[in-house]
Amino acid sequence: MSALSRRRVLAGGAAAGAGGLLLTGCTGDGRTRGTGASAALSPAEALRDAPVGGDTVPFHGAHQAGVSTEPQAFASFLALDLDPEAGTEEIRRLLWVLTDDAVRLTQGRGALADTEPELAVSPARLTVTFGFGPEFVRRAAGETAVPAWLKPLPEFGIDRLEERWSGGDLLLQVGCDDQVTLAHAARVLLKNSRAWTSLRWRQSGFRRSRGAEKPGTTMRNLFGQVDGTVNPRPDDEDFASTVWAEDGWMAGGTSLVLRRIRMDLDEWDRVDRSARDSALGRRQSDGAPLTGEDEFDPPDFQAEGSNGFPVIPEFSHVARANGGDARPTMLRRSYNYEEDSGDDAGLLFAAYQRDPDTGFVPVQRRLDELDILNQWTTPVGSAVFAIPPGCEEGGFVGETLF
Ligand code: HEM
Repeated sequence: MSALSRRRVLAGGAAAGAGGLLLTGCTGDGRTRGTGASAALSPAEALRDAPVGGDTVPFHGAHQAGVSTEPQAFASFLALDLDPEAGTEEIRRLLWVLTDDAVRLTQGRGALADTEPELAVSPARLTVTFGFGPEFVRRAAGETAVPAWLKPLPEFGIDRLEERWSGGDLLLQVGCDDQVTLAHAARVLLKNSRAWTSLRWRQSGFRRSRGAEKPGTTMRNLFGQVDGTVNPRPDDEDFASTVWAEDGWMAGGTSLVLRRIRMDLDEWDRVDRSARDSALGRRQSDGAPLTGEDEFDPPDFQAEGSNGFPVIPEFSHVARANGGDARPTMLRRSYNYEEDSGDDAGLLFAAYQRDPDTGFVPVQRRLDELDILNQWTTPVGSAVFAIPPGCEEGGFVGETLF
């Protein structure tokens, strides 16, 4: 996209940034010219001796990055609402602009008209993943384009949902191993969406920092549990059929169910170690099932103890979540969250699957009926998005809709 054509499509939003570009003498790729700023580092110089900052995840491809990507340390999920007057043409232009921004930012370059391109020079595995709510798809391509599963989830008895964490028309999922790069990318995308959208909610989460533990270590949630063991891996034979959609404009895409689940850390403090392990069905210490020695030992849900009861209690989270499924039905890629107020912490539970009606929903129904962990956890936010396929160079995410 040329700078000129792009400026034309930025109806307001970041147009002022183009002026800023001239004022600061910035080239848009993080380097500065003239005006005595020659001491500024070039991107290559900035990354010298920075083992994490220089890593990039390719933007283009059959699938969007940020799904099968090894999770970054930090993620922000931003849900935007479309302005009432935004129709097909506006949506198309919006996606074009945002794709262009994402291409540049994820590869360590400032966006066009970026007023702080210096903040982009350390990509640190930045990914930007776009997701569409039902209204977005309807407005872009009509009712027939809306997949049957793209709607609010059924109500569950354990839900205490709040509007402020639920729904949304356009999702920007921004993942990165560096908070500054992430904050900048999110701001640029927001700024360039402003002409036709407004921010509905933003939820940010974290895992351990990159380098804080061995790569590939399963994350721990704020209850201290090893969380994410039983998950499809990208090289598994059934990964594609579990995660990627096959049909129509969604072919190569997936769905995201994002649940904000509050965890009562104060009450959990009062639970002793053996009760914690029974509630989960796995050991907190190393994540192994109660019937095994190692985190990746397959749990034996039939094994009985000397008292004749199952070793992994039937009410435990993993027994209920498994429910006899031979293979996982979704890809879980969650993040911890904690608000500064100190009274709201938990999990941004993120599940990706071909179809939530066969992936997430049956599992959540079982957990809704019985899961001892429900005593300490409460879903307070819920959203479902279609994650369209990726695009090739020169294309834009969402193009298959038009
Ligand atoms: C705050 C809420 C939750 C916490 C703290 C939590 C924690 C965990 C932990 C520690 C494990 C064991 C390790 C692993 O395989 O990942 C696990 C397993 C699992 N969880 Fe959750 N979870 C929560 C909510 C959910 C929800 C909402 C769902 C889906 C509706 C879900 C689905 C699963 C599945 C499918 C497994 C694997 C079960 C198996 O062994 O086959 N979890 N969870």
